[in-house]
Amino acid sequence: MIKSWDYKKEYSLLKKRIIFSIDKTLRSGKLFFGHEVLKFEKEFLKKNKSRYGLSVASGTDAIYLSLKALNIGKNDEVITVANTAIPTVSAIVNTGASVKFVDIKDDYLMDPEKIEKIITKKTKAIIPVHLYGQSCCMDKIIKIAKKYNIKVIEDCAQAQGALFNKKKVGNFGVTGCFSFYPTKILGAYGDGGFITTNDKRIFKKLRRLRFYGMEQLDPSKWWNNKYFAVDNGTNSRLSEIQGAILNVKIKSLDNYIKRRREIAEMYDKGLKNPNLIKPIKKKGKFHVYHLYVVAHKNINRDIIFKKLKKFNIFLGVQYPYPLHKMLAYKNSSYKDLRVTEKYSKKIFSLPTYPTIENSKIKKIIKLLNKI
Ligand SMILES: Cc1ncc(COP(=O)(O)O)c(C=O)c1O
Repeated sequence: MIKSWDYKKEYSLLKKRIIFSIDKTLRSGKLFFGHEVLKFEKEFLKKNKSRYGLSVASGTDAIYLSLKALNIGKNDEVITVANTAIPTVSAIVNTGASVKFVDIKDDYLMDPEKIEKIITKKTKAIIPVHLYGQSCCMDKIIKIAKKYNIKVIEDCAQAQGALFNKKKVGNFGVTGCFSFYPTKILGAYGDGGFITTNDKRIFKKLRRLRFYGMEQLDPSKWWNNKYFAVDNGTNSRLSEIQGAILNVKIKSLDNYIKRRREIAEMYDKGLKNPNLIKPIKKKGKFHVYHLYVVAHKNINRDIIFKKLKKFNIFLGVQYPYPLHKMLAYKNSSYKDLRVTEKYSKKIFSLPTYPTIENSKIKKIIKLLNKI
C-alpha cells in the first residue's frame, strides 16, 4: 500500500534514540520548560537564523498568539489566502478580527499584485502562507506592508527551511509561525509549534501570552516567577516529551529536506504526461517540498484517485475546498478568487515524506503518466 504519509518507518529508524530521550525526560523530574524544550528552542533559532523565538503548543497557536501580540482583534481586518489549511483562518477569526481573502497565482501562493486593492483603513496584518514548502514573493509583500504600515505574519507551517532570496522564511515578517504536526518537515509525535521574531518586545509579550500572561524571565525557573498575570494570556506550552523528540529529529532536518527535494526531482523528471501540471519553480526560491502538488488539465481528480486506489495507492488533496466555500467562513470578505477556485477542484498531492521508497515513487509516476 502507498499512503500519502507514513511515519512508521521513520520511527523504526529513530526508535532507540527517541525511547532513550523520552525515558531520560521522564526521569528528569521536569515535564515543562526543562532541559529539552530550552535546548530545542536554541537549536531551532540557530537553524532558522532568527534572533528570538519560542516554542508553543501548535502552529495554530503560533498564528493566534502572533495576532494577539500585535493587539489585532475586533474591528480589524487580516488579509490571507483561501487556499490554505483551516487553522490559518481559524486563528484570525478566534481573535475577533475579520478575514479578507486575496487570490493566488499559478504557483498556488498569494498573489501580491492583488493585495493593494483590498487594503482598507481596518487592515492590520497580512498572513502570507508559504504553502507546500515554497516561499511567497516576500519582497513584494513586505514592500506593500511597509507602504500601508501593515504587519506581516508568515505562516511557515509547511515550509521549514525554505528560502526566499537566500533568507530563511520566518525572518521577513514580524513573526514566523511554524508547526510540528507530525506530517510537517520537522514533525513531532504530537502537537507543537514555534514562533520566530526579530523583535525583542514582541518576543517578551509572546512569552507571557503562552503561559497565562505571566512574566517569564527565565522559563526554566518557573517556580521563581511571580504568579501574576501581566497580560491576559493562555496555555500554549510545548511539552518536554515533544521537545525531546524534536531534539532527536532536528539533527536530521537538513537530510529530510535533501531527501524531499530528491523525491521532487524524481517526479519532475519522471512525470512526462503533458496534461499534468507540475509545480512551478521560481528563481530565488528554495522549495522544501512539504508536498508535491499537481493538477490534471482534463480529468477529474476523483477518477484519477479511483484508478490509483485499484493499485492500493492513496493520494491526498491539500485542499479540496477553499476556505471561503466552507460553512464556517461563508461570511468572509472576498471579491475575485478565480485562480483559487479553479485549482481547488483540480489539485492533488503526491507523497514526499523522506522515508518513502523510490520504488513507490516510480510506481506513482508510471501510473500518472498513463492517465
Ligand atoms: C498552512 C498551515 N498553517 C497552519 C497550520 C496549523 O498547524 P497546527 O496543526 O500545528 O496547529 C498548518 C498545519 O496543519 C498548516 O498546514
